[in-house]
Amino acid sequence: MTKKYALLFCLCLIFASSNARAEWRETAEQKAQRLAWWTEARFGMFIHWGLYAQAARHEWVKNREQMTDAQYQKYFDTFNPDLYDPAAWAKTAKAAGMKYLVVTSKHHEGFCLWDSKYTDYKAPNTPYGKDLLKPMVEAFRAEGLKVGFYYSLLDWHHPDYTVDRHHPMRNNQDERAKNPQRDMKKYADYVYNQVEELLTTLSPDLMWLDFSFPGPDGKGRDDWQSERLIQMVREKMPNVIVNDRLDLLDTTYGWDFRTPEQNMPREWVAMNGQRVPWETCQTFSGSWGYYRDEETWKSPRQLVAMLIEVVSKGGNLLLNVGPTGRGTFDARAMARLDAMGQWMKLHSRSIYGCTQAPAELKAPANCFLTYNPELNRLYIHVMEWPFKSLHLYGYNGKVAYAQLLNDASEIRFTEHGRAGDEGGETRLTFDLPVKQPEVAVPVIEVFLKAD
Ligand code: GLC
Repeated sequence: MTKKYALLFCLCLIFASSNARAEWRETAEQKAQRLAWWTEARFGMFIHWGLYAQAARHEWVKNREQMTDAQYQKYFDTFNPDLYDPAAWAKTAKAAGMKYLVVTSKHHEGFCLWDSKYTDYKAPNTPYGKDLLKPMVEAFRAEGLKVGFYYSLLDWHHPDYTVDRHHPMRNNQDERAKNPQRDMKKYADYVYNQVEELLTTLSPDLMWLDFSFPGPDGKGRDDWQSERLIQMVREKMPNVIVNDRLDLLDTTYGWDFRTPEQNMPREWVAMNGQRVPWETCQTFSGSWGYYRDEETWKSPRQLVAMLIEVVSKGGNLLLNVGPTGRGTFDARAMARLDAMGQWMKLHSRSIYGCTQAPAELKAPANCFLTYNPELNRLYIHVMEWPFKSLHLYGYNGKVAYAQLLNDASEIRFTEHGRAGDEGGETRLTFDLPVKQPEVAVPVIEVFLKAD
């Protein structure tokens, strides 16, 4: 009898869990559909904003300087971004050519930009006195951008969050000794409730949960209760797009895209030999939060080149701005966003809706290719302007027409055959003007013949 019941119980469990998973089962086509706006967009704005903006020396300042809550409190007590103008931020992002926003609703410091009912550690309780997130969401949506929330799984302020190897108090033995009194289950509930609150009150298009560091003295899926969390997210908002840092990479439902950061992937990011959707997040200068004295800023051209290279490998670029404690983008960020906008104004056709070129189309020397499958057009980004001739191999018979993208001026070409040709090669040569067009990176738009 007991055995029978045990068997029944097991069967029920298996049924229940496979039923739950069934919710997440989706075909590759359905997933592509769900991710379509994001894949088309290619270029988004990351915003890291919190109390650390006032320290102005990296968003990990509390950790790096091993500050106690009491020492960090001054940033909360004085936080007052009086120049905050989300409409201006949204306009700037749009003018730069960005199509979506991902903003730190809460970073590792634990401070919340929105009026969460689950904590007092939030913007409305600072001298600023108001919710910072909702107006941002409204402003970016008003400009036609999609909105995603970064939400930190780490929390260096929550009383139930245990001290681990990434914690500001990692070397403080008294604080470590209090770990048994901290309850990570309660903390996981807090995460669950806050994520649910964000979903239900602000309906984001994307959730960016950050990050897991399993192993000794670390935290991973059991600590965040990642399975329960993702199940809720998928149920509440089946269309939401989710990043990959919940420590659920071995599941199909636990992530939608990969997120390599602070380096350039060699090629289209793959999992088990399969290309997957990917987005790389990058900084202007190495820090995500506003860093006054950091001077290793990438040049505008380097940033344009980065966007091009990412799309040439089938990925998205999420480019970060760290606003100041007054609530502004500083001059260095503005100059770069402006330069990207100038380039995008003339060249966004080689970015939006584009992806890696088909394998048979090889990039000529010093060029990156992107390709728009809908239009069947190839975009040749000429990183180093050659003298008069740009030679392409394997293109004979494939090109119908070519023009510079910045001014739609024709680029004539010659197809060289084998007979009598120097080197005996078959090649197609574009006849370029001697003077490089005055844009950061010139692009040749190639209308390919239909096969
Ligand atoms: C890392 C850092 C964090 C930053 C993030 C962006 O996870 O912890 O400060 O927000 O990268 O991807």
